[in-house]
Amino acid sequence: MSTKSPLSDRSGWASGGAISELMAQAIANPDCLSLAAGFVDPATLPVDLVKQAAAEVLAAPDARDLLQYGTPAGAGRLRAAVLELFAMLEGVPTEELAETRGLTAGRVLLTNGSQQFLSLVCQALLNPGDVCLVAGPTYFVMLGTIAGVGGRAVRVETDDDGMTPAGLEAALDHFQTVGELPRVKLLYLVPDFENPSGVVLADRRRSELLDILDRRDPDGRIRVLEDAAYRELGFDGTIGASLWGRDRSDRVIYSGTFSKSFSPGLRIGFGLAPVELMQPLIDRKGNEDFGSAHFNQHLLARVLESDRYEAHVADVRRSYRRKRDALLAGLSEHLGDLPGVSWREPAGGLYVWANLPEGVSTGFDSPLAEAAQRDGVMYVPGELCYAPESVDPASGESRPRPTNHMRLSYGVLDVGLLREAAARLGRAVRSVL
Ligand SMILES: Cc1ncc(COP(=O)(O)O)c(C=O)c1O
Repeated sequence: MSTKSPLSDRSGWASGGAISELMAQAIANPDCLSLAAGFVDPATLPVDLVKQAAAEVLAAPDARDLLQYGTPAGAGRLRAAVLELFAMLEGVPTEELAETRGLTAGRVLLTNGSQQFLSLVCQALLNPGDVCLVAGPTYFVMLGTIAGVGGRAVRVETDDDGMTPAGLEAALDHFQTVGELPRVKLLYLVPDFENPSGVVLADRRRSELLDILDRRDPDGRIRVLEDAAYRELGFDGTIGASLWGRDRSDRVIYSGTFSKSFSPGLRIGFGLAPVELMQPLIDRKGNEDFGSAHFNQHLLARVLESDRYEAHVADVRRSYRRKRDALLAGLSEHLGDLPGVSWREPAGGLYVWANLPEGVSTGFDSPLAEAAQRDGVMYVPGELCYAPESVDPASGESRPRPTNHMRLSYGVLDVGLLREAAARLGRAVRSVL
């Protein structure tokens, strides 16, 4: 018998199984074309911009400071630049944000990608057994993050316009009826070009969801975590109006990232949090890493202070639109005639959500997964993106996770390979229908 101490409860909660399985598949099948990886387009990664910015910041008199530790909350220079960018996205001058909402650079927390911010928020707000309401489907890594702190992710009815107001009401009703409403602490939403569904939360619904919370939870106890990871990646350049901008109860926590618009390798994300949450979040961040890479923060600040960032994001949008078109054309060509097979055309972001006939499973152990492996193509089984628990608006009951969907990403492959991947996927799907 082992004499070593057993692992903590927390270690058992952090499942991480899905990601490990996908990575293992990718390594075991190097010739596979991956529509699974949510990586950004290698061709758009800004090598020249980064070289130039690195040379500029290293030539500055304070260059040595940049190679020193920073602070847990992040470099003031980048916090200020992020605030400017956010104000631009909101269409409101920074002075007005300060006056009307008390938003200053002091409320910007810089993190190692936005994933760390999401994790810090879950750690700061969720006790084991607390509930985070999520869309169905939602960003599957977040499901692991919630589970990792012992939280319960519960999915709320969702359609082509995002989470439904009736679904949110039904979920709140359910928890009230079972006497667990106080356990509902968080509502997590990815309003723009959601990973994995590509859905945009309809403008009207953004207000309706907040109105429901304001009516049923006037004190703002239930927080909203708005994950704006893909906000800048709308193909027509339109920037959606944030939930944050409509928040009347100081309940919305905003999460942003430079991974999708610039470079995930720099690992820079950020959060905007209500005043009372800032210090708890900074304290947690300090315990984890004393602060994100200081040099990278100055490098990115330099890019944001120039006009190079906007031009780069415009290029990224053009590239993703071309790639989306290539994948959609391939899907139409190779799966378009199959009854019960459909997909949603995303207007931004990195993902196409595909539906197969009910009863055709896409899971890791399914005949389709086997056929896809044989034909040399990978996808993310849609099942992973559904929280295990749900509240059905009609019955109030929990429904099993749907198993007949897949997430297809056009991030990594080039246009030619996207068409080839669609052809392979078409062969695999045909073989199991
Ligand atoms: C919806 C969503 N949020 C957050 C992240 C985290 O990304 P990062 O940590 O690189 O900012 C991702 C990454 O794919 C994502 O899709």
